[in-house]
Amino acid sequence: TLGERAEKLGMRAYIVGGIVRDLFLGRDNLDLDIVVEGDAPRFLKSWEKDGLRVSVHERYKTGTVVFPGGKKVDVATARREFYEFPVAQPKVFTDSLKHDLYRRDFTVNAMAVSINQSTWGVLVDFFGGRRDLGKKILKVLHNLSFVEDPTRVLRGIRLEQRLGLALEDNTLRLLRSCVRGGLLVRLSGFRLRSELELSFRERFPYPAAKRMEELGVWEVLFPGLRLGETGRRTFRRLGAFLGRISRDFPDFRGRQWLAFFSALLMESPENIRLAAIDRLNLPESERGIVVKCLSELGAVEHELGGRSGPSNSQIYAFLRDADPAACLFWSAATGRWRVRRRILLYLTRLHRTSSLLKGRDLIELGYGATPRIGAILEKLKILRLDGILENRDDEVRYVRY
Ligand code: CTP
Repeated sequence: TLGERAEKLGMRAYIVGGIVRDLFLGRDNLDLDIVVEGDAPRFLKSWEKDGLRVSVHERYKTGTVVFPGGKKVDVATARREFYEFPVAQPKVFTDSLKHDLYRRDFTVNAMAVSINQSTWGVLVDFFGGRRDLGKKILKVLHNLSFVEDPTRVLRGIRLEQRLGLALEDNTLRLLRSCVRGGLLVRLSGFRLRSELELSFRERFPYPAAKRMEELGVWEVLFPGLRLGETGRRTFRRLGAFLGRISRDFPDFRGRQWLAFFSALLMESPENIRLAAIDRLNLPESERGIVVKCLSELGAVEHELGGRSGPSNSQIYAFLRDADPAACLFWSAATGRWRVRRRILLYLTRLHRTSSLLKGRDLIELGYGATPRIGAILEKLKILRLDGILENRDDEVRYVRY
């Protein structure tokens, strides 16, 4: 359908980038990126006429179309001057596609597959991406790749670890000289933060974090940073606990990386930590979470570490105002199993406990719509958390009494 449409408009369309790579690796990838030789805005607007949601950047000649069911497809124009093609032209690609692919980071990411009807499924691979996938190596397209875009250092390490590839020798040399040459130092806080966020959203972020340490990336980004055994254990636990809790917290995924960032900083002295946090230029809300993660671990251990207490309702009261990302961090960072168990109990169960009776039930039981209802519901919740009231009948009896 995408290809038919391109064909009708006299353009050529290709799927490109990570999805082609992942196709060959047999990995899922839900990001569909398309490049057209022609005019992406015109291609996109043709879907608008069919009533689909389309957004267009005229200036960059890119945009997005959302298909029924929510599938989002990004469409870009192959850079360089654009031509229109007679549909019957037999060649599969032209210079503008080659040029577009050449701007990219690694050979394995610089492949395209034609989706036009007449040439459907034809692989376009100018730079040996297929071969490098076979050799399991990650290789830049040219020697200036990291200079053009130093965030590729972090991308490269991330992809290397995720895909089980190895940085090819010359690429590794270029990467090291980019790190040593201080190019990362000039990255803006925002770009750095975006890359870190991506790295820490990986399913297992520790290997990449370790590799960054080895290659001296942390040292140039956050001078003085220490990542040792405690950090490693915390990363590992974070990875393991994540799956258990994220379902329950709306919007948690957007902040979970802050727990990993805190783990990265936890073994470093206070001044190094603060400098690192400042370096990313985080918005106040996120900054606050990281600072709280690091500064309150001791207090949390003190409060939740007792042999016989605290009760469930006390755990609840203590953690309810903390961000789930901070709770997650504390549960992974603490060396004390009681503390860990109690926080995980909060994150998996306690946080969503409420009384079985609702406000409406209380009105039926004869409480007018007074402010007292809120207080009673809160009391019922506490008694339920502590297992004193077990079912609805208990609650009704308690309220009557
Ligand atoms: N790209 C690049 N340089 C960057 C970022 C991206 O050359 N700094 C190119 C790569 O060719 C990449 C494509 O843009 O394949 C799309 O980028 P993105 O969607 O971020 O990457 P994916 O390769 O799809 O990786 P992921 O699986 O992490 O989404």
